[in-house]
Amino acid sequence: MTDAATAPEPGTVYLVGSGPGDPELLTVKAKRLLERADVVLHDRLPGPKILEGLSADRCEDVGKRGGGERTPQPEINERLVELAREGNSIVRLKGGDSFVFGRGGEEAEFLAAHGVPFEIVPGVTSATAAPAVAGIPVTHREHTSSISIVTGHEDPTKPESAVDWEALAAVGGTIVVLMGVRRLPDYTGALLEAGMAPETPVALVERATWPNQQVAAGTLETIVDARDEVGIEPPAVTVVGEVAATRATVLEFLANETANEATAADEEV
Ligand SMILES: C[S@@+](CC[C@H](N)C(=O)[O-])C[C@H]1O[C@@H](n2cnc3c(N)ncnc32)[C@H](O)[C@@H]1O
Repeated sequence: MTDAATAPEPGTVYLVGSGPGDPELLTVKAKRLLERADVVLHDRLPGPKILEGLSADRCEDVGKRGGGERTPQPEINERLVELAREGNSIVRLKGGDSFVFGRGGEEAEFLAAHGVPFEIVPGVTSATAAPAVAGIPVTHREHTSSISIVTGHEDPTKPESAVDWEALAAVGGTIVVLMGVRRLPDYTGALLEAGMAPETPVALVERATWPNQQVAAGTLETIVDARDEVGIEPPAVTVVGEVAATRATVLEFLANETANEATAADEEV
């Protein structure tokens, strides 16, 4: 498969974003590098369709281990350096874009500190792609011209929480929450407490572009019930803001493969 004229330099690490999961949303560059890499280090977030397309003998799964624990990041960093020093060309494959809650920045810094050449290959982030395939634009001239992308992983009541929900409520615009399925009641509560209108539209998009994509829609007040009714599980993106209501206006003609797996909760938007 390797073409001497165009093969990646041996010893280079490619920090590649895979997009949300549809293999056709891999960039042309990501696809080429995946075909030619000596080793691909990945977790499960690139999704089943992309992972099934990789040759198992060149893959190392550095995602959750048997017991459900993540491979510690320092171990992944060390492995990248080790493989590069053996002269391999390596793809470090991350879901979405490696530089959006993907630890790509940490990996780049580690590689630079160890003198390992690397290249960053941006991917289509789920922060915008997951809403998009469900018919939700993250900006819309009639509703908002700003977007905040935050983690929902933290407890909003903790003083050390890095996300200031009160400030986000004041700014308005679209709020996109990654890693925010479990703590949905906490941060929707925080936004309501900060003064956001209870009828603010909210949508959850699970496994966007994977088989069995699911969407739950509602408002700040009803979305937790909608989540439970549909059975939304991670990975899912939460969209808070007027744009979330756009889905209801376009759904009938939205031809994305799995977009029309609508639920009763959709009527609430
Ligand atoms: C650690 S973050 C990684 C984000 C990723 N780097 C990106 O740019 O999309 C993991 C979170 O991304 C979101 N996510 C990634 N892929 C997704 C998908 N196909 N559908 C829905 N959410 C997804 C979920 O919020 C998930 O909890």
